[in-house]
Amino acid sequence: MTGNRTATVDDQLFVTLDNDLALLFATPLLRRTMPDAAPINAGLRAEVIRRAASEPGVRISNRGGWQSKTDLLEWQVPEVAVLRGWIVAAVKTMSTLSPDLSNRAPGQTQFKAYAWANLNRMHDYNVAHLHPESHFSGVYYVDAGNAQTGGTIQFTDPRPMARAMPTPGFNFDRVLTVVPTSGLMILFPSWLEHWVAPYDGPNERISIAFNCTLR
Ligand SMILES: [Fe+2]
Repeated sequence: MTGNRTATVDDQLFVTLDNDLALLFATPLLRRTMPDAAPINAGLRAEVIRRAASEPGVRISNRGGWQSKTDLLEWQVPEVAVLRGWIVAAVKTMSTLSPDLSNRAPGQTQFKAYAWANLNRMHDYNVAHLHPESHFSGVYYVDAGNAQTGGTIQFTDPRPMARAMPTPGFNFDRVLTVVPTSGLMILFPSWLEHWVAPYDGPNERISIAFNCTLR
């Protein structure tokens, strides 16, 4: 369907729930908690803290906090190699939603990825944004910190017309929140608008964001 903006509902745009009920324009979200992530998180955390103390940060959607350059996947620490594997597995799982990608021979689907670290302290947040020039984006939570209510990632309904008619019992036009936990990875289409609520914990909140471009 690449390059073709029209498709029939019998094509690949719906998720069937029952014989006569489907989700049209459903938006995928992967949530996966990595088993035994604590030692990996400890190593990633130490490296982020070390770099945040010695490297200037960049400012993009972040307000406050420290954001690294986008070279994280090249950092020469063993924990980054593990993270790379987790990203590959997540993209592979996401690809199973595409009949086109699923039917390819093993190894035929390739993608490029880059990542960066985010260190947020009390009151730091990220304004609403999406990730241009990328297909799927994700976040891995190295340390969710100890926020009471802040630091959540919030997704906007990408169907703007839905707000024309609030519908009882349906989540049209709602903001959907994911509460971070250490070891959680999420992956979503890069065009899905999101922001990060102000963090309100005394300890650092550390996450690694990444962009993936499929070939
Ligand atoms: Fe983002």
